[in-house]
Amino acid sequence: MAKWKVAVVGCGSFANGQYFPNISKTADAECVAAVDIVPERAKAAAEKFGVPNWYSSVEELIEKCDFDIAIDAASIPAHYDINMAVLRSGHHLISQKPAALTVDLMTEEIETAKANNVKFVCVPIHVMTPDQMMAMEIIEKGIIGRVLSVKCVSAHGGPEYFQGRKNDPSWFYGADAGAMFDMGVHALHKVTGIMGPAKRLGCMAATGMRERICRSGAFDGVKIKTDYLPDTYYIALDFGGDRVGLVDTGFHERASKCPPLEIYGENGVISFYDHGGKWPVPDVYTDLPEYGPRGWKKADEFVEDKRPEFFTQCCPLADMVNALENDCEPMLTPEHARHVIEIMSRMHEAYEGGIFIDLKTTF
Ligand SMILES: NC(=O)c1ccc[n+]([C@@H]2O[C@H](COP(=O)([O-])OP(=O)(O)OC[C@H]3O[C@@H](n4cnc5c(N)ncnc54)[C@H](O)[C@@H]3O)[C@@H](O)[C@H]2O)c1
Repeated sequence: MAKWKVAVVGCGSFANGQYFPNISKTADAECVAAVDIVPERAKAAAEKFGVPNWYSSVEELIEKCDFDIAIDAASIPAHYDINMAVLRSGHHLISQKPAALTVDLMTEEIETAKANNVKFVCVPIHVMTPDQMMAMEIIEKGIIGRVLSVKCVSAHGGPEYFQGRKNDPSWFYGADAGAMFDMGVHALHKVTGIMGPAKRLGCMAATGMRERICRSGAFDGVKIKTDYLPDTYYIALDFGGDRVGLVDTGFHERASKCPPLEIYGENGVISFYDHGGKWPVPDVYTDLPEYGPRGWKKADEFVEDKRPEFFTQCCPLADMVNALENDCEPMLTPEHARHVIEIMSRMHEAYEGGIFIDLKTTF
């Protein structure tokens, strides 16, 4: 019997690909329940992954099942209700992103977690990926000098463009979802994870593709309307102290060869590769004489590559279990997530008003 009992709420593409297969490999944990409002999906996941219980709502899970940690992997608009139900019932929670859609709702979740003395971990995972952790150590050691700016691209062709997706992707284009909450969230977590909280925000946005055609699964060939929210964002961030950032995000880039992330320092640069499930060692350019002639090298020539033997997108479970067993804060904090939620939820003020807005939250 494993030590920690885990329930997965939302049995869609991500849960089937990343959570169910990896739970027992990531920590001393086992999956005890699969939950989905489409009961066939919960049942199918339970059968496929040998999970002993399945339910068709989070309320049924809470009423009937003995579990310790819930992973909310449901569709974005469902997160707040699921998260509040889990936290109020006194269970630990790992939430897929974004955990809520406004700062006030996120604050309510944070306070409910505190009031119920439970741990709350928020995806995305970037501050604990092997490549970003190596970059942070390189920065801390002064190898690229004072960090001046950061540039991040987090975009793809749209969820309907994925050739492996089986479910209807149209919810990604509706209210309470969109490219900002699905893709921008990654870039914003990466850049704020490196630079710290942003102080000011500016943005240009566009709705480039107002109708799209699904490319796979039962919905192959189906046309969907995609004009409710922008699909293209260029975001400018001011971190104070003459440090700035640029984020390019959306559902508008069918392919790209841009590095997903580059960090520019006074004496060098760190350049990342697409993670591809492996989080490759980044490249480092340094101009400091103590590191030899100026030029590109691999990050592991400067700092040790400490990646765990088994690292997947199920790593928030390792973070949660570590926080529980050592009674410490998780690395993937809800306060960081709330700052990113403020940036995302106030983005429209910047692009509609053509102005820079001052941000209020921090972490
Ligand atoms: N971190 C990443 O890199 C990454 C990548 C893809 C998706 N995601 C996130 O994972 C989540 C799921 O995305 P997906 O691609 O698997 O979507 P999906 O549409 O394939 O699956 C979502 C599932 O949630 C279920 N659901 C909806 N409301 C529910 C509720 N109230 N209770 C229980 N189940 C409910 C749906 O029936 C569906 O089966 C989203 O939050 C998305 O942002 C994260």
